[in-house]
Amino acid sequence: MRKIETQIIKIEHPLSDQQLMTAAQALRAGELVAFPTETVYGLGANALDPQAVASIFHAKGRPADNPLIVHVAEPEDIDDLILEPSETARLLLEAFAPGPLTLVLPRSTKVSDVITAGLDTVAVRIPAHETARRLISLAGVPVAAPSANRSGKPSPTRAWHVFEDLDGLIPYIIDDGPCEYGLESTVLDLTGSKPVILRPGAVTAAQIMERTGIEVADSTEAMGESDVPKAPGMKYRHYAPEARVWIAAGTDYAARAEAISNYLNQLSEEGSADLRIGLFTSGMTRKLIDCRYYEYKSYGKMTAEFIETRPIWPARNLVYIDYADRPDPASAAGKLFTALRRFDQIGAEIIIAEGLPTEGMGNAYMNRLNKAAGGGKPAGGR
Ligand code: TXA
Ligand code: MG
Repeated sequence: MRKIETQIIKIEHPLSDQQLMTAAQALRAGELVAFPTETVYGLGANALDPQAVASIFHAKGRPADNPLIVHVAEPEDIDDLILEPSETARLLLEAFAPGPLTLVLPRSTKVSDVITAGLDTVAVRIPAHETARRLISLAGVPVAAPSANRSGKPSPTRAWHVFEDLDGLIPYIIDDGPCEYGLESTVLDLTGSKPVILRPGAVTAAQIMERTGIEVADSTEAMGESDVPKAPGMKYRHYAPEARVWIAAGTDYAARAEAISNYLNQLSEEGSADLRIGLFTSGMTRKLIDCRYYEYKSYGKMTAEFIETRPIWPARNLVYIDYADRPDPASAAGKLFTALRRFDQIGAEIIIAEGLPTEGMGNAYMNRLNKAAGGGKPAGGR
């Protein structure tokens, strides 16, 4: 494939239309533009141009049977994309749009098969990110966009994650700093008798009940493997770092620190102490780790950004990234993907990540972490 020059458009605030004009025109003209949203960076194409949409699959290396989300700037822009108005959708949009919620609805004939992978439904979302919304408005077309990573990599939450994966494959990346949530939107299927969460995200079943009175099922809990429909994308191996990922579970941070200590001690007893280990915990959790072999404490605080600028291993082969000082699922979710990428970059062989309660953002965090772990590995069960 011909290598194209990838241009980075760095946004300065306050945002002006002028800064987005080139990218908006490129989108209209059928070119690909990576742009920030409040969840993750998206790889956008004009949804009305099937050839432009097809080039998304090519750039990402994405299987053609995995449908895309169509992004619009205003709730009324959804009407053209769906078969008929939906009262449930209206209530949900009133409560959560713009925001990290994607609705799956019966599609209109305006939506091409390339977007929906031949399904008779379409996924729609109104991003809350100011830059994303302005870009879509300026382009004047609905924008089909998956996460802007190569297929199988963690979703990008920083512009340079996109650059890492797609440099030379797409013409534009809009850089507007880190994404607020760091995990992809909640995908809610409204085509069945009861709304079903196909992919958990920042908008939770409890919030939906509280704000709209609509009862939804969480497919990740309520439905068996054989139940349909599901988000086709959920069947693919996702968020897969090169390292083995082990989840340190426990009811509180002290219990989780103990689980990590046991695991590290066991590794050193087995003579595996020279394996390169990446640790992803809260600072409080990390400080309670009591391990005979790894003198990790002497390396000081290594944030994700520190490691980005210094991809080297200290002695004793353990590098840690604190997602925050205290255990907190929103912070852990926000840093998970960047941590997985950094551990990969520095050649980690084992990643130990703190498991958190599945409340609020914890549900989406654990969903992605479990996927990264390929189902999760118990201590010692390597
Ligand atoms: O936060 C997000 O949703 C980000 C930003 C860019 O908006 N986008 C994103 O897109 O994560 P993607 O393509 O990486 O994930 C979309 C998910 C996939 O699991 C896909 O299978 C599912 O939504 N999906 C898309 N259209 C669908 C449909 N018609 N029915 C069921 N699932 C659908
Ligand atoms: Mg994706």
